[in-house]
Parts: sequence; structure tokens; C-alpha cells
Amino acid sequence: MNQPIGVIDSGVGGLTVAQEILRQLPNENICYLGDTLRCPYGPRDTEQVKEFTMDMTNYLLEHDIKLLVIACNTATAAALQYIREHVAIPVVGVIQPGARAALKATKNNQIGVIGTEGTIKSQAYNSALDLLDHTIKVQTLACPKFAPVVESSEYKGSVAKKIVAQTLRPFKNSGVDTFVLGCTHYPLLQPIIENVLGSSVKVINPGLETASEVSMLLDYFSLRNVSGEKNQHRFFTTGSTKIFGGIARDWLDVPNLEVEYVKIGQ
Ligand code: SIN
Repeated sequence: MNQPIGVIDSGVGGLTVAQEILRQLPNENICYLGDTLRCPYGPRDTEQVKEFTMDMTNYLLEHDIKLLVIACNTATAAALQYIREHVAIPVVGVIQPGARAALKATKNNQIGVIGTEGTIKSQAYNSALDLLDHTIKVQTLACPKFAPVVESSEYKGSVAKKIVAQTLRPFKNSGVDTFVLGCTHYPLLQPIIENVLGSSVKVINPGLETASEVSMLLDYFSLRNVSGEKNQHRFFTTGSTKIFGGIARDWLDVPNLEVEYVKIGQ
């Protein structure tokens, strides 16, 4: 079972989930594909996001993955069910784990969720939280400027600070005690987001709980890598290998990390 775990995202955001998978599952290999060329997925319609997610899935199936993580909230909201119906391996999304983590953290049952236009419009977090607890109050906000800032590698600079402070103004004195980063790009902005929201608000990165779910499923389906062979992670992007590689090396502790360029879709 030394086949890799597949991780897909519209770009670099899923690296925040990959980081947790590598931390919680150090014996596993991962095969990551970021569709940077067609990022962002957030403003695209559901049918197109489904099609793009299927393109990514098919590419990684050719690499013999044993489990797939859709490490993109927009793709999870639009295509999780569709992908599950079309592939024979376990498929994990990021929204249910994110909702579970938020429920564990909240003390006043008031949860804020930020994400792309697609994720927020889908109300996927509202439904996931309602399924867990009808009494939870959810306040949501689409933040279309965040993912492009991350993709352009500007997630530590003054532009990012300004955009985050302006965008999150509606959450000042909103009463939420727990705040879900409902887009996998946003953990790269987490220090800035935490600074804006203040220490009384607990910020949730769904990647942590997603990696725990992957771990549980590896046991459930007897898929754990017990070969003892050395890790061989692979990273693919449909866009610039230079930009992707810079962010991946900044974010992940993977020695000699190389990025391969691929073409997918039409
Ligand atoms: C995007 O492609 O717009 C962001 C990805 C996400 O929703 O996690």
C-alpha cells in the first residue's frame, strides 16, 4: 500500500492540507496537483468546477492514487458527491471536517465562515453545520480577493494586510467566537487574519481535521503504507512551476521538492 494519497486543488491552497497530511501521516507518499492555470475556481459555475475537478482526479488516477483528497472548498462544495459517484477509491473533502472542527471549538455557537463566492453561495458550510447542530448560528462572507493574493505569492506583505483588514470589517463585534477558513488558500493568510480578528476568536484551518479523517479512512480501508520505503512525494502544477515551487518550499518541509508541469483538460 505504498501507493500515494492524491491531493487536488485549484492551485497552491491545498498545500495547507498537504502540510497537515505530511505531519500527521509521515509514512505516506502524496501526489499533489494544483490547477494553477485555471485558478481561481471560486467565481466559476458549478458545472465547470465539476469538470475541472474531474480532470484533476483523472490525472491523479493515472498515478495510481489509493485515496483522493479534494483539498479545495470550492471543488468540495461543487463536486465531492459527483467525484465519489465516478471513482472507485475513497474521496475526502474539506467542508465536513471544517464544520466538525468548528463545532468542537465554539463555546457560544456563533461561527463565522469565509470562502470563495462559489463556496459561500453553495451554503455548504451552513448545511454541514446544521446537520451537526441545528442551534448553530452561521455568519458567512465571500472573500474573492484572498485566493489571488495567495496565488501571486503576496500573502505576507502589506497588500495582503490591507485587503484582509478591509474585507473582514463586517466581523468586527459580530459575536462569532469561532471562524472557519473556508478556502484552503486562507491558512497562508492566517497570521494576518488572526491579527485582524483578535485573540478572542478561534480561527479554524479545516486541513487539520481533514488529515485526521484521511488517517481514519486509511485504517478503515486497510490502506496504510507499511512498506517502510522512503517517501517519494510528487507535485504537479498546470501553471508556473517557479511560483508554485516557491510557495511549496516556503510552506512544506519536503527536502529537494521538485515541481512538474502538466497539461490537463482540453
Ligand atoms: C479558488 O480556487 O477560488 C479557491 C480554492 C478554494 O475554494 O479552496
